[in-house]
Amino acid sequence: MGQSLLQYIYIYINIYYDGYLFEIGDKPHLSLTKLSQRHGPIMSLQLGQLTTIVVSSTTLAKEILRTHDQVFCNLTLPEAIHACKHSDYSMAWLPVSARWRNLRTICNLQLFAPKVLDANQAKRRVKVQKLIDDVNGSMRAGEAVNIRRAAFSTTLNLLSQTIFSVDLADPSSETTREFKETVWGMMEEIGKPNLADYFLFLRKLDPQGIRPRLTHYFQITVDMFDRMIHQRLESRKRDGYISTNDMLDTLMNINEEKMEDMDVLETQHLFLDLFAAGTDTSSATMEWAMAELLRNPKILSKAQAELEQVIGKGKLVEESDIARLPYLQAIIKETFRVHPTVPFLLPR
Ligand code: HEM
Repeated sequence: MGQSLLQYIYIYINIYYDGYLFEIGDKPHLSLTKLSQRHGPIMSLQLGQLTTIVVSSTTLAKEILRTHDQVFCNLTLPEAIHACKHSDYSMAWLPVSARWRNLRTICNLQLFAPKVLDANQAKRRVKVQKLIDDVNGSMRAGEAVNIRRAAFSTTLNLLSQTIFSVDLADPSSETTREFKETVWGMMEEIGKPNLADYFLFLRKLDPQGIRPRLTHYFQITVDMFDRMIHQRLESRKRDGYISTNDMLDTLMNINEEKMEDMDVLETQHLFLDLFAAGTDTSSATMEWAMAELLRNPKILSKAQAELEQVIGKGKLVEESDIARLPYLQAIIKETFRVHPTVPFLLPR
């Protein structure tokens, strides 16, 4: 029943507010391009009760995103994220502030610094090798490869190895199966068009029931991270503990062995951000890149030729090889351009 009633409400309020919601559709970046061809490079759209300014020229985009980014960088937050009890701990949703800058500094200097990532590269190499082995196995058995599933599991494990030194996409474990579904569900709920974003009076009603589902997903994830943080704190107290060089150890080293309650909460939410922002984005981009290569066999051959020439047939590509593969880099950049996974929603 929900669907038809919702559609009815949607049509009614759209007509009532004389808005553009109808014209946006399910490919907003394309429909906005079309609208801009009609209305020009800067236009104001009434989306329900929300007034939205759309900029569609390089010059104006540079003005807003680069020259005056400080003025424009705190956009309206999607209603769904309030389902997270501590959304004010999340780097992605925080306004530009001292706390946000502090988190960015920790990420830039401590977590994503090249030498830190290089130190735990071996863990990711094992996951890439596993992906290749799985694909080879399917090839020998004459089975189709489900790229979406393979890319998602690999990305999740690449991240969970980098952060916790564990596999969070292990099909044989019940906990990790639940985690995978949770991350997937979280992305779906946050990405779904939510009427409550456009009509303020619907916020309390939450007609699509997004808030309770998301609260449930956030809670499962945060509880899991909490267990992992406390297990690690216990392990580190034992004699002969050997550092794992992962992000959790790095953060614990910054906090000088002890983690106050506040630090635990911040760490849980930083990891929630990294998993939510890093999994589906990367795996969807990989899936699109593969789909586009299959549709463009000439480009696929050129990419294969580059790999053979630079790396050698049958050899594993290392992270440090990427700089020597300009054609492959161009393919990834073009995939970002044609299939942006996060064209909207984020405040910056
Ligand atoms: C194909 C892959 C990815 C795409 C297309 C993508 C896209 C984006 C975009 C458009 C933003 C908003 C722009 C900004 O705030 O500067 C963003 C922010 C963010 N991304 Fe990604 N991302 C990807 C992968 C990742 C990965 C792998 C991680 C972490 C492991 C990650 C973590 C974050 C975080 C934490 C933010 C918020 C930054 C802030 O607000 O300061 N992303 N991403």
